[in-house]
Amino acid sequence: MTIMEGARVHKAVIPVAGLGTRMLPATKAIPKELLPILNKPIIQYVVEEAISAGIKEIIFITRSGKEAIENHFDKNYELELMLEKKGKRKILKSIKNLIPSNVKISSIRQENALGLGHAIHCAKHLIKNEPFAVLLPDEILLQKNKFKDFSQMLKLFEKSGKGQILVEKVSKRLVSNYGVVDIKRKPIKPLTSSPIYQLVEKPIISSSPSNLRIVGRYILPSEIMSILSKTKKGRDGEIQLTDALEFYIKKKPAALEAFLSDSFIFDCGSIEGFLNANIAFADRSRK
Ligand code: G1P
Repeated sequence: MTIMEGARVHKAVIPVAGLGTRMLPATKAIPKELLPILNKPIIQYVVEEAISAGIKEIIFITRSGKEAIENHFDKNYELELMLEKKGKRKILKSIKNLIPSNVKISSIRQENALGLGHAIHCAKHLIKNEPFAVLLPDEILLQKNKFKDFSQMLKLFEKSGKGQILVEKVSKRLVSNYGVVDIKRKPIKPLTSSPIYQLVEKPIISSSPSNLRIVGRYILPSEIMSILSKTKKGRDGEIQLTDALEFYIKKKPAALEAFLSDSFIFDCGSIEGFLNANIAFADRSRK
């Protein structure tokens, strides 16, 4: 059975194979995704974001040395037993059943670090012909208002079948750190989307098509996987997801849309972003 675009999105790919070099020495033995925002690891926020939007299957793309991420979501009998015996119910609750029973988690090893596009492509055999989400756990989102970006992106995709890519406006001097999209200067409001005409990975400032940078949340049609099979190395000698998306819209104009974020966004792969996330989440928890 071919699953139509616009069908429900059940699967999310979360790449966790990065080395976390920007956070060394903290990440020498600890995966960067397990560093905490308050008392919860970064990856748990991202997994919860996916599950709360209705995702039922999480696929980690991982590497050797990062087994602690899988352990975090697994049962820890010894710890549970000890907390149970000591009557520490509240703490017990915080470590038990992190994943609801109707959600599955699996992991795939990325043997060679060939880039984000290559990491996503490692999940091709599990995605099959279904649309899928991608969440990059370096970026943590704190919603400003009632609606969450990722949930709204899923809803829009399920209605229109158009791929949704989260973007935010940044100052022009920062564009060369990110993928950038061109929406032909159409005005766009937060929590809405607009067709993408071009995507460029880490453009030089003077030739950037806009100051709308890609944030690490995507809802994509299944065809992206077969395009990734053929995508050649691009920026920084890596297989870039952005290049595959650009190829896709050249074949299918207006099939991808930029969804403007309504969240505070923190790059937790950097010390500054990580600290700011901790401060912002602490402030929010006091309210
Ligand atoms: C990746 C993507 C880039 C995107 C960014 C968001 O870059 O390639 O398009 O803007 O994530 O975090 P990376 O941070 O892996 O260099």
